Amino acid sequence: MDKFIIEGGKPLRGEVTISGAKNAALPILCSSILAQERCTYANIPKLRDISTITDVLATLGVHTESWQNNTLVLDPSGIHAFDAPYELVKSMRASILVLGPLLARFGKAKVSLPGGCSIGVRPIDMHLKALAKMGADIAISHGYVIASAQGLTGARIVFDTPTVGGTENIMMAATLARGKTVIEGAAREPEIFDLACVLNKMGACIQGAGESTITIDGVDSLNGVEYSIIPDRIETGTFLVAAAITKGTLTLKNTRADQISAIIDKLQDMGVEIRVENNNEIFVNGNHDLKAVQVETVPYPGFPTDMQAQIMALACVAEGVSSITETIFENRFMHVPELMRMGADLEERGPTVIVRGVRRFQGASVMATDLRASASLILAALNASGHTEIRRIYHLDRGYEALDQKLKRIGADVVRERGTL
Ligand code: EPZ
Repeated sequence: MDKFIIEGGKPLRGEVTISGAKNAALPILCSSILAQERCTYANIPKLRDISTITDVLATLGVHTESWQNNTLVLDPSGIHAFDAPYELVKSMRASILVLGPLLARFGKAKVSLPGGCSIGVRPIDMHLKALAKMGADIAISHGYVIASAQGLTGARIVFDTPTVGGTENIMMAATLARGKTVIEGAAREPEIFDLACVLNKMGACIQGAGESTITIDGVDSLNGVEYSIIPDRIETGTFLVAAAITKGTLTLKNTRADQISAIIDKLQDMGVEIRVENNNEIFVNGNHDLKAVQVETVPYPGFPTDMQAQIMALACVAEGVSSITETIFENRFMHVPELMRMGADLEERGPTVIVRGVRRFQGASVMATDLRASASLILAALNASGHTEIRRIYHLDRGYEALDQKLKRIGADVVRERGTL
């Protein structure tokens, strides 16, 4: 398994181009199942999770025609199977997003239950209850969801708490259902708005995506599409923190400032200088003293859980006492003991971590445990005095495109050591 070796203390300086959003790409690639013809997607990041979802789609018969320079061409005209196997689904939970499209277009699906992951149990009960309300027969057998429907029927779906994947699965299923579906309590993430845009371009009839009530009028079929996905707001936030934690200055390009207002607000509260040149370009100057911060992760448009580990790393070297509260997932503090190995002063109190600022991290050997935890360890290492080794970096490769190359180009001393195991 690969590891990163980082010599900390170098201020990052220069320009970074943000890649396409992993969490927009995954549902959008699954939506190709709904299309009668070829779908061409631009700005698709080269990530392990994207390779996994194209493997899942390939087992169904969705053929990857080409993947050149971040443009991916899928041909769904040869779909011949409706099973998403455990071997693939276990490595990437978002595979459950083939369920809604398969049911909508073919009336059948057998998809492995995703199982938990390191950050939590992550059930899919809300997905299944909503599909049943649309007329699907749902059974759970031997670790699989076995679903069938003689055509789905539009329904009023109410989510008690927002679910990103649940909203995406139902929105896709409803595009080919008979009649109208209304989703109340829908998640409002930008990735949901992006999915609705591509579905409408395919001929769907969706209104209200990005708000908490979404209306979908079913149509008979969807066409192929050409579409370029939104930039990754979490990668953007991660680089803003990277500039702040190294007292560097960066210009982030090909991004969307309007999608990260909560992140920008919190970082400015901490004393980070951030200027939005235009919506697609952000200038950040981290050469200021950092102040403590109070953060609580909440559904969009609030502060995102996917930035919790990263802002915690920054709070570790801010002046004073910060508090970070995680309300979305039940086990998303696995970076805490690793950050403490690097000298952080952290105290877990249930869903909250109290952070007492120290002057600087100390280099150490640490282990990545999940995607965003690995990002927080890299941020700490970039600040640290001395040498840090971060093992199990495959977690990072799931969600950050060529992060080591991007960091090197702006002055970081980072080496990827190919693992033997
Ligand atoms: C999406 O996961 C993202 N993944 C996650 O990003 C992100 O952290 C999460 O949304 C929250 O913003 C993708 O988009 C591929 P949820 P998802 O359904 O859809 C509970 C990353 O780092 N829940 O909004 O799985 C669930 O357990 C990843 O890029 C149910 O109880 O998240 C969680 O506590 C990590 N029953 C909460 O809701 C359900 O049926 C929010 O989950 C569904 C969800």
